[in-house]
Amino acid sequence: TPRVFSGIQPSGGLTLGNYLGAIKRFVDMQDQGDFQTVYCMVDLHAITAKLLDPATLRHNTRELAAGFIASGISPEKSILINQSQVPEHAQLAWIFNCVARMGWMGRMTQWKDKSGKNAEAASLGLFAYPALMAADILIYHATHVPVGEDQKQHLELTRDIAAKFNHDYGVDFFPITEPVIEGAATRVMSLRDGSKKMSKSDPSDASRINMTDDADTIAKKIRKAKTDPDALPSEVDGLKDRPDARNLVNIYAALNEQTVEQALADVGGQQFGTFKPALAELAVAKLAPISTEMARLMNDPAEIDRLLAKGALQAREITEPVLKKTYEIVGMVGF
Ligand code: TYM
Repeated sequence: TPRVFSGIQPSGGLTLGNYLGAIKRFVDMQDQGDFQTVYCMVDLHAITAKLLDPATLRHNTRELAAGFIASGISPEKSILINQSQVPEHAQLAWIFNCVARMGWMGRMTQWKDKSGKNAEAASLGLFAYPALMAADILIYHATHVPVGEDQKQHLELTRDIAAKFNHDYGVDFFPITEPVIEGAATRVMSLRDGSKKMSKSDPSDASRINMTDDADTIAKKIRKAKTDPDALPSEVDGLKDRPDARNLVNIYAALNEQTVEQALADVGGQQFGTFKPALAELAVAKLAPISTEMARLMNDPAEIDRLLAKGALQAREITEPVLKKTYEIVGMVGF
């Protein structure tokens, strides 16, 4: 069976963008049954932008695991892991550090955005980030990677690394992976500014919906979301040049498991005074049970740790042989 891999950083809380762009899609691919699915908390990635307080990192990692499970990722159906507990990710990443070129890394828009004006002060880990991401995927020989739009460039780099490794060693070992960027909400935007991505690092809490927000907070943030004065169009074309309206319709469609066309067939013609309460009601109905379940799971962190330990054992049955074979190809003695 073909394998799916994807990961999320436990660098802060989960947002609606993570949920609609990633986790909800992870659940779909898990339940579809066509794939073996591996989902990961990428804690090694979470310290690349800045070192986190250790207690915060531990909390975030467990909370992310709770978020996965509360959203429908089943530790029975999927392999659920924490990156550092499967050491072959970091070991393969070293090989990829030697395959990838500085120039490739320097062209990554996330590197440019996150290192900002002072690249000299950025960590070496932030620069090498995409090589570790390629290792996450390729250590499983995963062929399909569900992500939001913002990860597309990193996945192209993953293909380049696999192709260069195969070419340089004259092997056909690592697969060329396919990004899976699908659904109505592959790029959820800020509720305050439809031209900016919804992000856990935005200083304004009103710009995002957190998966830990309670029902009242979710409803309030949607009521206050930025909009324009016009009624909703009935055709997708009518959302052109209306980024705030488009974003809310995308969110509505994704929560309702509809295409944007289908959603507009229902809500086209409505004023925001009608549409926003309907969206708030939908969002609360879909998200509040998840935050409640997350809080329940967080009451028993030992159980979460137990599940992650089990996931790591399952994962290493796949990753150990792939690392051994890689070392053998590269010419390390003893493999
Ligand atoms: P991260 O932690 O920033 O985000 C996790 C997932 O959520 C998606 N996402 C969004 N989708 C739609 N709208 C948004 N506003 C939004 N914000 C975030 C991201 O596209 C991503 O799918 N580099 C990755 C983590 C990673 C990974 C991997 C992913 C490490 N190794 C291997 C796939 C495969 C990241 O920083 O995602």
